[in-house]
Amino acid sequence: MVYGLGEALKNLNSYCQERTTRIRNSLSPSRPSMSETTIPGTGGSSSSSRASTTIPSTPNMDPTTPTVDDPAPNTNNGMSRDEFRQYGKETVDYIVDYLENIQKRRVVPAIEPGYLKDLIPSEAPNAPESFESVMEDFEKLIMPGITHWQHPRFHAYFPAGNSFPSIIADMLSDAIGCVGFSWAACPAMTELELIMLDWFGKMIGLPAEFLPLTENGKGGGVIQSSASECNFVTLLAARFEIMKELRQRFPFVEEGLLLSKLIAYCSKEAHSSVEKACMIGMVKLRILETDSKFRLRGETLRNAIQEDRNLGLIPFFVSTTLGTTSCCSFDVLSEIGPICKENELWLHVDAAYSGSAFICPEFRPLMNGIEYAMSFNTNPNKWLLINFDCSTMWVRDRFKLTQALVVDPLYLQHSWMDKSIDYRHWGIPLSRRFRSLKLWFVIRMYGIDGLQKYIREHVRLAKKMEAMLRGDAKFEIVNEVIMGLVCFRMKGDDETNQTLLTRLNASGRIHMVPASLGDRFVIRFCVCAENATDKDIEVAYEIISQAAQHVLHDSVKAVIAEEDEEAVALEEMVADLNIQETPDKGLARQNSADAVGQRLERQLSKEEILAQKQHESLAKKRYLPEPLELSRASDTPDGPCSPEILVS
Ligand SMILES: Cc1ncc(COP(=O)(O)O)c(C=O)c1O
Repeated sequence: MVYGLGEALKNLNSYCQERTTRIRNSLSPSRPSMSETTIPGTGGSSSSSRASTTIPSTPNMDPTTPTVDDPAPNTNNGMSRDEFRQYGKETVDYIVDYLENIQKRRVVPAIEPGYLKDLIPSEAPNAPESFESVMEDFEKLIMPGITHWQHPRFHAYFPAGNSFPSIIADMLSDAIGCVGFSWAACPAMTELELIMLDWFGKMIGLPAEFLPLTENGKGGGVIQSSASECNFVTLLAARFEIMKELRQRFPFVEEGLLLSKLIAYCSKEAHSSVEKACMIGMVKLRILETDSKFRLRGETLRNAIQEDRNLGLIPFFVSTTLGTTSCCSFDVLSEIGPICKENELWLHVDAAYSGSAFICPEFRPLMNGIEYAMSFNTNPNKWLLINFDCSTMWVRDRFKLTQALVVDPLYLQHSWMDKSIDYRHWGIPLSRRFRSLKLWFVIRMYGIDGLQKYIREHVRLAKKMEAMLRGDAKFEIVNEVIMGLVCFRMKGDDETNQTLLTRLNASGRIHMVPASLGDRFVIRFCVCAENATDKDIEVAYEIISQAAQHVLHDSVKAVIAEEDEEAVALEEMVADLNIQETPDKGLARQNSADAVGQRLERQLSKEEILAQKQHESLAKKRYLPEPLELSRASDTPDGPCSPEILVS
């Protein structure tokens, strides 16, 4: 059939209409619901379906704003809007079911490195795949390789903040999808970040000089991705400041030489990111000893500064920690601060984990001396129910930070630069996510009261675990339990403790990680789950205690086996000696009293050794007390007593 042009256009139009109708139909609600049919292992959609919340509709648009007639195309590529509506809701159900049933899963996966390579095709698909099939593989292939940080038996590292308000805020941030490197790039993002850093700074009791909205203040706050980044940028700021001064004082000295003289300080317990910062920043770092409570003290710092100055070095930066990673110890800021001031050193305070606890006034004495600090950071994404990433950082003088980081190409400049903050000058990446949104949601929806309750409950539970372990003769506590971290070990050697931890982690029932404290292997138990309960702590203690009992039992068995081997070898040796001695024995009885005495003595000592061995084996088997003094039996008329009599 031959068409004219008009006819062809008519056909094309009707084809397009028909195709649109077909696609619409295929997206109608009669499609099977994912939760009913596809996501495995979740028990379907949540039973607790709540009445839908009324989310306010978009405020009226400015009538002068030009609008397009049609919304953006409801594309079927990847996922259409209608599909997103449906799958998004079902995914929320999946998330709730996952978190509700998380305790049924192993805490750590039972897989080995490389497990996924053979399960996933080696090439990416050319043709689109359905959401159902991706989700099915997610549950089948990905979940078995997940370490479940939100599991009630997850006690490793520090908590990974997580809460529903935070997840929702992140969803919104993802949907807005802005890249707010400057005020102009997303005004609300910059402004909310400022306000949140002001709120949160006040909540933890930071001095007003740090707060962004203090009138005529020089301070400021910013959200970085990680505490490591905070440690690094503050080091860069401190380095810039000292180099500026040195360049002025020694204009003819090569910059590389000046740099080689700089030295920073931190304690043995500081996080490894401080070492990394110095490595990248190309400055020397001196790692200082701590006291018996794993704290850096003023005197240690003062001596180190003096020694280094005598060597011609230039001390410029001290990184202290409030809540160290290994054992949650607190460097003594009130001693360190004045020394930094005297010596004009930049004092940084890394409170990655414990900083959030300062929302409870009773913990604030731990940061006495903060008034000497130039910068401070804490991670609400650790202990304030905010999902990763959200590392808040404050500086006493924002210009000292930004001078080290400003690079200002024309294409990033805008007309509001004199009136606003551009956060791209406060960190390393240009692009930034809308992270303040989750702080805003969480702080508002829990309230300061709710957040204080959460922190206090974790501390209470950690103290409960401490008390349970202290009440058990198998264990000793190694740190001062101040926050939610308990460091303990079995009484015994490092190997025993390593065995215990390996067994516990391999069991899949609980997860903890080790630390080295005072050169001893310790096990860290951190309260992590948002809604951890007394029962959780009791169950965790039972698991640990039972595993320790098994380790003891096994080591006793191993010792007994070893001892038995030794005893057999010894018996054989004795038998050999006896064979060699037999002719002498007869003679000895007929000879002088001295000679008899000597022989008895020799024979007795062999038997004594055997008796001792037997006793030790028994003692270990039955936890008998230390052996009694062996009585010398050479005075008995019939010669030596039997070993049994000797040990009784
Ligand atoms: C005291 C301290 N500083 C820094 C870090 C590193 O944190 P991030 O993973 O946010 O870089 C940690 C991590 O636990 C920490 O405990």
